[in-house]
Amino acid sequence: MNILIINGANLNLLGKRETSIYGNQSFESYFSELQKEYSAVNLSYYQSNIEGFLIDKLHEVGFSYDGIILNAGAYTHTSIAIADAIAAINTPVIEVHISNVNAREDFRKKSLIAANCRGTIQGFGLNSYRLAVEALLDMAK
Ligand code: DQA
Repeated sequence: MNILIINGANLNLLGKRETSIYGNQSFESYFSELQKEYSAVNLSYYQSNIEGFLIDKLHEVGFSYDGIILNAGAYTHTSIAIADAIAAINTPVIEVHISNVNAREDFRKKSLIAANCRGTIQGFGLNSYRLAVEALLDMAK
């Protein structure tokens, strides 16, 4: 099973960025734990701060992979183009957020991508990604 995790804007700074919200662990370190836990799954990871690169990656894997876990960062709240890319591909996309965006500023409460995703997992820290892997494995049963 091929699953790609895509992280968008500013998520390269996990572990350093607003640690009271996003925690102290880098994504690279969390991702290697995840790969060990799900060694039977081909888990890969891509990060970009650039909206168009995220769209290119969705196009690249979105007709062959079994699942995409997408934390678009702030593009969640702004990007019709990413929403359209998710609608254009066949691979199911799970929207993920580390924080509970509904408990934060009003501008974070609106997701432009949610309606085109299979579902949303948010508010569980980095564990949100693991829950999304579980959801994709469950869907594949
Ligand atoms: C985030 C929430 C977004 O509102 C924010 O812009 C991020 C991270 C999260 O994972 O909690 O960059 O997607």
